[in-house]
Parts: sequence; structure tokens; C-alpha cells
Amino acid sequence: MTRSFKRLLIAGGAGFIGSHFVRYLRAARSDVEITVLDKLTYAGNLANLVDFEGQAGYRFVHGDICDAELVDSLAAQADAIVNFAAETHVDRSLMDPFAFIETDVRGTAVLCEAARKHDHQAFLLVSTDEVYGEVRQGRSEEDDVFRPRSPYSASKAAGEHIAHAYAASFGLPLLVTRGSNTYGPFQYPEKLIPVLITNAIDDLRLPLYNDGSAVRDYLFVDDHCRGIDQVLHEAPSGSVFNIGTGAETSGLQVAEAVLEIMAKPRSLIEFVADRPGHDYRYALDVARITALGWEPQVTFADGLQRTVRWYQDHPEWWRPLKSGEYWEYYRRNYRPLVS
Ligand code: NAD
Ligand code: DAU
Repeated sequence: MTRSFKRLLIAGGAGFIGSHFVRYLRAARSDVEITVLDKLTYAGNLANLVDFEGQAGYRFVHGDICDAELVDSLAAQADAIVNFAAETHVDRSLMDPFAFIETDVRGTAVLCEAARKHDHQAFLLVSTDEVYGEVRQGRSEEDDVFRPRSPYSASKAAGEHIAHAYAASFGLPLLVTRGSNTYGPFQYPEKLIPVLITNAIDDLRLPLYNDGSAVRDYLFVDDHCRGIDQVLHEAPSGSVFNIGTGAETSGLQVAEAVLEIMAKPRSLIEFVADRPGHDYRYALDVARITALGWEPQVTFADGLQRTVRWYQDHPEWWRPLKSGEYWEYYRRNYRPLVS
């Protein structure tokens, strides 16, 4: 099946993955009119979208997905919504769960309601592999039950449940993607990879929780965006897709790879107190998205190299972010290892 859209509402488009998705659409589908709706939280950044300012077929609206009136008026001018907007950092969800419940649950419900009311062709919810919870063995399949363990993953799971309820009860034409840990340029320096890179640039310690053994499937952001685009345009309504590479990399391996690319000493690694409730492994079965014709194009070695270069070449993007509130968060989050 193929679907095409004239006007897309991209919620959370000023964040990391959302802004790459806008860039992807501008290049691959330049005829589509895009409205970005974003609250510009600490993680949202208009600098991510500066290339498109003033272009025909692109507009930015500053606002909250929980603002039902605003969302309704924007949905009236669109044929589909793609939702990236969320509070996204697990460690912050341990400090302030309610911000996550508000945006990731209630905000998702507001978007579902507007998409239903305006009879949209599709509502694509960008979800996460974290809804499955920790997977010590085997791989999560799309029909597996949710076992989220952090306020972040529980809020994403709850938002997804609301969306599935709208699909079952009201016929919302829902599509869901559950991507794995995504990295690349323009990622706010609180997630593992940009923390490691920006700290290494300044010869600061590279903090690894516990013993650095937790495993993730690191996915380059361009591959993630291409997967979302493919699901949006080609997948049957009502379907859910895992998006990941199938590879498994520990935090320690990531830190060592960053230091090797940057020719910095291994002694910069510092083991710190563990994240409470830390999920030690996620692993996705990606047979379904593979059958749709998607596969990752960027290896971890290549993607990491490109990401390191980008942060080295763009201090004007990330240096202003690492100030004030950032260091308050940092001091609160990272504690010495207690054994
Ligand atoms: P991000 O934190 O970089 O960006 C989130 C964006 O949402 C920001 O621009 C922020 O301003 C905006 N936002 C937050 N609350 C809002 C609200 N109430 N109204 C409007 N805008 C709001 O996040 P990201 O890493 O780009 O993640 C995007 C989406 O992808 C999220 O839904 C996340 O759960 C999902 N996801 C992320 C990853 C990952 O590894 N980064 C992997 C899988 C899925
Ligand atoms: O898997 C998808 C998820 O990936 C997304 O849904 C989330 O929005 C995104 O934040 C990400 O969550 P993670 O918890 O996997 O990402 P993070 O970069 O925070 O951590 C990756 C791993 O590295 C994890 O095992 C915790 C560890 N870690 C993280 C940080 C920030 C450290 O060891 N040290 C750190 O300083």
C-alpha cells in the first residue's frame, strides 16, 4: 500500500529525531507542506531547524501538545500527524515523573483526539523499544506485552495504550514505530553518546553507570527517520513496527570507541553509581520492518565517527547548552560509585 500527504503536522519537530525527520522530508518529499509544533523545552532547539526558516511549505508554531485548542486548530489544517513530542530522558524521569505523564500521556491523547476529529489519513506515534522493558534474553516482538520500568518508559507505554484505544474504539488510523536508542548530530548532551563525546572534547570524565555493561541497539538517526517515513507512507493502518539494527553494544564499548576515535586516554572513563531501575538490555526483533524493505544503512563504527566529527565541528551548537541548569542536573544525576 502507498499513502501520500499534502500537509503534515510534525509535533516535537525541534528536537533531535524530529528535526532530522523534517530535514529528511524536505529533501525526499519537498512537495509536502510541513507545520512543526514544538514547546521548545530545554531539549527543543530552533537552531536545529534554522535551514528551513522562511522557506515556502514550512512553518514553525511554538506551542504545547497538551493545548487542545491549539492542537485542534493545527490539525484542521493537516491530513496527518507524526508525533515526536515527548519528555525523553530516563534519568530526568526519575527526578520529575509528572512532566513525563503530562506530555507523553495526556499530550498524546490530545493529538489522538484532534486526528480523530479531523478525520486524518494517519496518526503516527513515535514510540520506543523501552515499552517492552528490560529483555535479558531473546528479542522483543511487536505483539509482546509491555513491561516498562521507568517513569519515562511507563509514560510512553501509557501514551501508546491511549493511541491503541483510539484506534480500536474510534477507528483512528494509527501507525506506531518502536525505535531503539538513536544517536547522531543535534542530540542534546544528556544522552550517553553526546555526553561521552562532549566530555571527551573537554577532557572531562566519561561517566558510565555501574560497570558500563548495559546493552543497547544504537541506531543512526538517518536510518531511524527513513524507517518512520517508510511506515508512514507504506504500512497498513493499525500496524506497529520495531526499528533497530539487531546489534548489541555495551556502554563501555561505546566509551572505548569514542576515546579511540578521538585519540584520548581510557583513564577518562569513570564508573559512577547506577541509574535506579536500570534496564540492562533491550533487543528488538526487526523481521517486520525488514519485510517492509527497510534496513539500516549506517554501521555503528561509521555513524559514531560521523557523530564525533559533527560535535567537534559544531561547538557553537552544544557549548551554550552545557551551562546553568545543565550543570545543576548533571551534579544531581551523577554520584560516585557506591559498592
Ligand atoms: P528530544 O528530547 O530531543 O525532543 C523532544 C522534542 O519534543 C523537543 O523539541 C521538545 O521541545 C518537544 N516537546 C516536549 N514536550 C512537548 C510538549 N508538551 N509539546 C510540544 N513539544 C514538546 O527527543 P528525541 O530523542 O528526538 O525523541 C523524539 C521521539 O522519539 C520521542 O517521542 C521519543 O520517545 C522517541 N524515541 C527516541 C529515541 C532516542 O533514542 N532518542 C529512540 C526511540 C524513540
Ligand atoms: O531505546 C530507546 C530509548 O533510548 C529512547 O526511548 C529514549 O528516549 C532515549 O533516551 C534512550 O534511552 P536510554 O536510557 O537507552 O539512553 P541513554 O543515552 O540515557 O543511556 C544509554 C545507556 O547508557 C543506558 O544503559 C544508560 C547508560 N548511561 C547513560 C548515561 C546518560 C551511562 O552509562 N552513563 C550516562 O551518563
